[in-house]
Amino acid sequence: MVNLDKYSSIFIANWKLNGNSSFLKDYYEKLKVNSNNCTVICSPSVYLKSLKRNNENLFCGAQDVSAYKEGAYTGELSASMLKDNNIDFCLVGHSERRQYFSETNDNVNIKSSNLIEENIIPVICIGETLEQKENNLTEETLSSQIKDSVPNSAIHLNALIAYEPVWAIGTGLTPTLDEINQVHDLIKNFDTKFRSFKVLYGGSVKSSNSKEITELSQVDGCLIGGASLNVDEFNTIIS
Ligand code: PGA
Repeated sequence: MVNLDKYSSIFIANWKLNGNSSFLKDYYEKLKVNSNNCTVICSPSVYLKSLKRNNENLFCGAQDVSAYKEGAYTGELSASMLKDNNIDFCLVGHSERRQYFSETNDNVNIKSSNLIEENIIPVICIGETLEQKENNLTEETLSSQIKDSVPNSAIHLNALIAYEPVWAIGTGLTPTLDEINQVHDLIKNFDTKFRSFKVLYGGSVKSSNSKEITELSQVDGCLIGGASLNVDEFNTIIS
């Protein structure tokens, strides 16, 4: 398993449903991994085998995993299959999966637990919607997402939490720096167990705001969607 303690910052690119073979080739020709940080590329599953690991700080991640271990589940990919293909990280519970594919906290919990069994680091995504934020339900929402979606087997060495306010994803909107730091502090203090967890921020991170976000005391890195599709932009973020 990747030694998370080795890194002060972790940057994860989430390509979502984007990319093709020539995009991938061009991307890796231009990608400049910074040896002080951990860089993870999460591609669509058919490209996972083509992702490069040509730097000791560069890793591959999947965007989802099956909750099932094997059997008659057409279209699914298990945690052990990901491991068999040298995948070290996997996003779980991304808000787009919760929203469009009816993923629940229970699904996220089982998936994360299966990944940990295979020594793959689940990146457990949580975040409030705009409506929840406006109704002062951020703390309550995050607390129940954490309680129900983080499995008992998760510790700071084998799992990551990503705070991604749903209203900030792909919108260009971000919480203020103070808000981000406060929410991360809240997450780390829900339970003593979470104090040493690394918590990443995601939601409209780009080269113009990544430095100030990453420098926040309670932020341990970023999960980057749209801006990670432009390799020059991503190079600036991870540099
Ligand atoms: P965004 O997406 O950077 O495009 O807002 C982040 C994410 O969905 O992980």
